Amino acid sequence: MDSNVKPNGFATIEVHGKKLELPIYSGTDGPDVIDIRKLYASLGVFTYDPGFTSTASCESQITYIDGDAGILLHRGYPISQLAEKSNFLEVCYLLLKGNLPSETEFSEFSNLITRHTMLHAQFDRFFEGFRRDAHPMAVMVGAVGALSAFYHDSLDVDDPVQRVITQHRLIAKIPTIAARAYKYWIGQPFVSPRNDLDYASNFLRMCFAVPAEEYVVNPVLAKAMEKIFILHADHEQNASTSTVRLAGSSEANPFACIAAGIASLWGPAHGGANEAALNMLIEIGHVDNIPAFIEKVKNKESGVRLMGFGHRVYKNYDPRATVMQKAAHEVFKAVGMKDDPLLDVAIELERIALSDPYFIDRKLYPNIDFYSGITLRAMGFPVEMFTVLFALARTVGWIAQWSEMNEDAAQKIGRPRQVYTGATTRDYVDIKKR
Ligand code: CMC
Repeated sequence: MDSNVKPNGFATIEVHGKKLELPIYSGTDGPDVIDIRKLYASLGVFTYDPGFTSTASCESQITYIDGDAGILLHRGYPISQLAEKSNFLEVCYLLLKGNLPSETEFSEFSNLITRHTMLHAQFDRFFEGFRRDAHPMAVMVGAVGALSAFYHDSLDVDDPVQRVITQHRLIAKIPTIAARAYKYWIGQPFVSPRNDLDYASNFLRMCFAVPAEEYVVNPVLAKAMEKIFILHADHEQNASTSTVRLAGSSEANPFACIAAGIASLWGPAHGGANEAALNMLIEIGHVDNIPAFIEKVKNKESGVRLMGFGHRVYKNYDPRATVMQKAAHEVFKAVGMKDDPLLDVAIELERIALSDPYFIDRKLYPNIDFYSGITLRAMGFPVEMFTVLFALARTVGWIAQWSEMNEDAAQKIGRPRQVYTGATTRDYVDIKKR
């Protein structure tokens, strides 16, 4: 928090008879925050908040979420408006620079990104070091981290010009890397980017074109891809974004930080959830099997969760899920999939879960991943690519948040503390006497 900002009140805390007044600050929206920075120095205690459920780790102007109301805004613009009216590169510009671009600004930005999509030729050789059956997410973590070995001229985190070059490089090159991770895995030749295509169409072509025939991009699928990218572009201080910020707080280079974000995103409780949600739908297989599955989730014994349901922040319908559900139907229509049994399972599962007190009481609503898996599958992507697509889209959010952190004078190296519950001091015993 800027030291010039005046608190709008104070919270008094008393610990073992000693009192301390803690300043309270307000953002432009959302809950007030209690500034506890002086707590340990003044009272000798830490706060305890595993999972950061009550902790604001930074000040940010990029994304706002009201989880109870189901609101998601980027730089103030509702996600539904951006998904319907904007395009991914415009959203990238908005996230990075704070405002929507003018026509000239957009054309310059779009040209810049389009003309930096190629990778260093040596980079293709780098892919060959991976096993052919390497999971594309494993390749993404390695390949993005390796960008720091290829682009030495944009690693100085204290140089604002280099920071901007890195932003552009990452946004431009991440679709090429993601498509190569896929092509390598399925044993097809890499397809080079094309400058006459828009961002989403170019990516689809790099994934699905083969040298043996011309690939014509289906505009409905390109539009759906664009929406999926927009819906995943940023989401405030989630696990992977916080990972990027924490890694960056040590002034690690930006490519290494984004690789750390990708690693965090991979987990099934975060970006891996759409893969897990689709696998769950496949496992259920038919609407008749839903009641037994719901019972298994509710009795908790098997540890099975309803994947694609629940969210740490949204305790109401995820606003991204509404857009995603609509996009799913558009894609199904475009690919002529009227009777996908998995869609029937998904719709019935949602209906049952939304009327069951277990889910209502815990405020468990469908999140974006519930519909994104079946949509991506209909578009031709295998489950192993789902989290890769999420990483591709989230790269702009990560680098915008990383840049904001680097411009924030109040930020310092992240260094949480702990409640130590291990052994107290004891003397070393020689191995023969143990
Ligand atoms: N199915 C069944 N029960 C659930 C689920 C679920 N998906 N999610 C939470 N619960 C229950 C949980 O068992 C607990 O019950 P009780 O109070 O009886 O102990 C209660 O709801 C609260 O759960 P929690 O684990 O404390 O909630 P959380 O805020 O820590 O977890 C979550 C958030 C997303 C990790 C969790 O809801 C979950 O595992 N969902 C499934 C995975 C998923 O879809 N993740 C994608 C999130 S959206 C993508 C993104 O933004 O990254």
